[in-house]
Amino acid sequence: MEMEKLVSLCKRRGFLFQSSEIYGGLNGFWDYGPLGVELKRNIKDAWWQDMVTSHDELTVAEGAPSTHEMTGLDCTIIMHPQVWKCSGHYDLFCDMMVDCRAEGCKGRFRADHVATSQCPLKPSKAPGEHGKCDLTEPREFNLMFKTIVGAMGTEEDAAFLRPETAQGIFVNFKNVVDSTRVRIPFGIAQMGKSFRNEITPRNFTFRSREFEQMEIEFFCHPDTSREWYEYWRDRRMKWYTELGLAGNRLRLREHDAEELSHYSCGTADIEYAFPFLTAGEYGELEGIAHRGDFDLRSHMEGKLVKNAEGCLEVEMGPDGKPKYKGSGRDLTYRDDQTNERFTPHVIEPSAGADRATLAFLCEAYTEDEAPDDKGKLQTRVVMKFHPRIAPIKAAVFPLVKKDGMPEIARDIYRALKKRFTAFYDEKGAVGRRYRRQDEAGTPFCVTVDGQTLTDQTVTIRDRDSLKQWRVKVEDVVDEIASRVS
Ligand code: GAP
Repeated sequence: MEMEKLVSLCKRRGFLFQSSEIYGGLNGFWDYGPLGVELKRNIKDAWWQDMVTSHDELTVAEGAPSTHEMTGLDCTIIMHPQVWKCSGHYDLFCDMMVDCRAEGCKGRFRADHVATSQCPLKPSKAPGEHGKCDLTEPREFNLMFKTIVGAMGTEEDAAFLRPETAQGIFVNFKNVVDSTRVRIPFGIAQMGKSFRNEITPRNFTFRSREFEQMEIEFFCHPDTSREWYEYWRDRRMKWYTELGLAGNRLRLREHDAEELSHYSCGTADIEYAFPFLTAGEYGELEGIAHRGDFDLRSHMEGKLVKNAEGCLEVEMGPDGKPKYKGSGRDLTYRDDQTNERFTPHVIEPSAGADRATLAFLCEAYTEDEAPDDKGKLQTRVVMKFHPRIAPIKAAVFPLVKKDGMPEIARDIYRALKKRFTAFYDEKGAVGRRYRRQDEAGTPFCVTVDGQTLTDQTVTIRDRDSLKQWRVKVEDVVDEIASRVS
């Protein structure tokens, strides 16, 4: 699939628009159109439902070491600045950046993307390859967006837009334990906006400056943490495949020891072969990380670093005091059955809602052939979304705008609308109406025709197989419901 075709369909059919497009757009920011907002909402709802609301804490899930509980949070985007100092983001959340000083270029590139970036000078080559290129040495650039809280506008009032949702969960760990009856092992889920001032946002929404994350912080006893890591890695992989990402374009990749963060004892990425990547390359959809006790300890004790023995200890400033002081709050956990007190280990499945949406869009895009109104085969573009995430579940058409057909079709549409997103269309040839719904990814089209007037049945057409069958008007809602959930 060529990426340009998908980008063009996304704009034409209202999945995605460039932010502030009428003013020339803003690099790294995207708006979801009428179809896109439904698609992304369905993906986020599926995640929340599958991970949180429909989780059964009484039964041991397949592959899990024991039963576990799941709950949720919705934290603020701007948090106390100390959060980011203790988490390490203030010092370490940097990419290396290279600037080009050449007149007419003044390009800015991520140092590790130079080879795959385009120099703005013509003829365009990679930065550094054009005769006029004058690149700086790589230097650090912190990706957090800074803002000012309150009216004074001084540096003391500086705060940051969160670059991940995870920290809101860690700093509320104690609140959740104290205000609910959750017992370890349990997970806290959160979805919401995150912001990163990416040096080179690119590849459509893949690397944006404003995006949404769907993160779980799973708290467990250190002795079982390895098993829980494996459980979450496999469970998250299964979630994507069940929603329709194909096996050969999706892979689970365990990080090598040298790729692991300084605190991590295991990380795997779920990756997708996006069409904008070169053959054989994969882009990250989600990371599942074993984070040990790094996060809770950081927020208790202060920013941690690895010492010469490889153990985590509080980083000291030049005055011999902790460089960034922790909260001093006790974030340990006491098991009320064994009386053991310990700092829980954390497994973090961290997904991007926009990257997942992009992967589902890429996977869905299909070109095949379907007969037109005269029975002649025509190329059609069809978005083969899993019915659960399809923006519109069913479209209803009267074959013609007369003989009482629109009235029956409107009644069916109103009945469907109470349960799902549905669409009513009476304009133009029925073949064209089918094509429009194929491009929107609507799994079922319901058509009221001449036979409906005599036997009260309608046709239902399946988007992918093009099969049509008849059902009674009164059974349409149940028929669609049984196929989309
Ligand atoms: N709390 C861990 C964390 O934030 P991450 O790998 O930096 O880990 C998790 O981000 C997920 O967030 C990624 O797998 C990706 O899906 C999404 N993500 C990260 N940066 C992004 C960006 N600039 N644009 C879109 N999605 C992004």
